[in-house]
Amino acid sequence: MSETSSASQLLTFPTGFLWGTATASHQIEGGNWNNDWWAFEHQEGTIVAEPSGDACDSWNRWREDLDLVADMGLNAYRFSLEWSRIEPEPGLFSMAALDHYKEICVTARDLGILPVVTFHHFSSPRWLAERGGFEWSETPERMAAYVAKAAEHLGDEIGMACTINEPNIVTMMGYVLGAFPPGVSLDLDRFAAANQTMIAAHRRSVEALRAAPGTYPVGLTLSMADMVASEGGEQHLAEFRESMEDVFLRATGGDDFIGVQCYTRMSFDENGFAAPPKGTRSTPMGYEWWPECTGATARRAAELTGLPVVLTENGVSTTDDKERIEYVTAALASVHEALRDGVDIRGYVLWSLLDNFEWAFGYEQHFGLVACDRTTFARTPKGSAEFYASVAKAGSLRI
Ligand code: BGC
Repeated sequence: MSETSSASQLLTFPTGFLWGTATASHQIEGGNWNNDWWAFEHQEGTIVAEPSGDACDSWNRWREDLDLVADMGLNAYRFSLEWSRIEPEPGLFSMAALDHYKEICVTARDLGILPVVTFHHFSSPRWLAERGGFEWSETPERMAAYVAKAAEHLGDEIGMACTINEPNIVTMMGYVLGAFPPGVSLDLDRFAAANQTMIAAHRRSVEALRAAPGTYPVGLTLSMADMVASEGGEQHLAEFRESMEDVFLRATGGDDFIGVQCYTRMSFDENGFAAPPKGTRSTPMGYEWWPECTGATARRAAELTGLPVVLTENGVSTTDDKERIEYVTAALASVHEALRDGVDIRGYVLWSLLDNFEWAFGYEQHFGLVACDRTTFARTPKGSAEFYASVAKAGSLRI
């Protein structure tokens, strides 16, 4: 799988490896006024930097987005369905919205791109949030009904299905850090309860997808981090890992894959979370610069679940695009090392195709391979897009 010379090394990835990039409905479509995030953005006193507004206008410009993916020679595009557009009121389904997403899937397939469809990426319809969101006992059933309807419409156009994006981040941010709706801080009981509802919603959604027409792999995507503890921090690490990762990893039995999403490493000492030592390189998100989280989390997810892994998100926020190339190079080298050790990793999906609405941070973070002008919506591929395209087209990376 690799060929060494004194100057450099060529890392070759397996045939059929998925090379993708990802987006999410609320971060790019614009005008998603009927979900809980939009409401949160316009609520007094939250920490949201600015409203999502028109985002990247991808509701109208999705074809341009797909062309950008195709131009890079990628074979996978991960995007999400906006539940609030598909089911704007309980039980009322929009055929127009379903047709819209079907057209995206069909066009992607025509371009040789596998549509990786996420059914819930952080945003919920207002009507669901008003009834308690992931604290409402009926949510798993409601989600399964929406998933069933969408899956019935999209059928085999779906290439791979992700039920819920990072359920652990929705609950941690929503009930512990107060940075996502419903904006609650430090309520560990509600956090734990919402985690259980998330798990039930995932399981019910898997059943719905399996019962629907179409055959494609189905899984959950989880936010994971590489974690280290200094002396005395082991217990804190174990407790955090249990509530953020393991409770979900244990709930993936019978799924077809586990989606791993990682950006950094977290440190623990005898007091709990520990800031990395002074002088440690960090990113504008405040994360430790640790691209090696890819290999580390993929190994752990594979070991705990026994499932094939797809790295459904990894990337870096930076305004210095050369740093993105540096980060992705190191991340892929770490993936390659795990592959060489026999870890079953099926693909790498880079976050993100576009500079987009980064939730509470607004538009000040730049995760995109492609810049998006805030007023004209003009898309401009960056040097990192050219770099990533060359890796994906060759199926190999020179380090
Ligand atoms: C989320 C994305 C987000 C990215 C970068 C992930 O947690 O799925 O929606 O933009 O990280 O912060």
